Amino acid sequence: MRIHQYERVWLLASMVLIVGFIATITYGAVGLGITMVDDRGATIAPDEINEDERFGDPRVEQVGDDEYEVYAVAMTFAFQPDPIEIPADSEVTFYVTSRDVIHSFYVVGTNTNTMVIPGEISVVTVEFDEPGEYGLICTEYCGAAHHEMEGQLAVLE
Ligand code: CUA
Repeated sequence: MRIHQYERVWLLASMVLIVGFIATITYGAVGLGITMVDDRGATIAPDEINEDERFGDPRVEQVGDDEYEVYAVAMTFAFQPDPIEIPADSEVTFYVTSRDVIHSFYVVGTNTNTMVIPGEISVVTVEFDEPGEYGLICTEYCGAAHHEMEGQLAVLE
């Protein structure tokens, strides 16, 4: 069977596009280290957050020489704790859950952004080498004041 030349060109072009799309997604997920909600996190009942030993008192906890854990809670329309303060040159693991609806936890200007789903605990580990001030915002529409949902992350000297 003979394939018309134009058809062959278009066939080839569409295959190149498909491979290109797959390569882009793979690069985004693996190459840039973009983290989706994964199964490292556990589950938690949103109405039991106040009694939970981690999230009942949202906080920063030192767990090693340069290692910290942050237990953060997202809600309409704030993050707790706020501000989050950690020292520079540290590795920080954020555990984030939601009290009510779906939010996100985006550290502005970095590639740290995780969805925060009620009932789930999102886990993201980030290294902060330099001191600086970061904004935290929510990138999932969560209600009338979604655009005002923000917090502060301070990386101290
Ligand atoms: Cu929380 Cu948008």
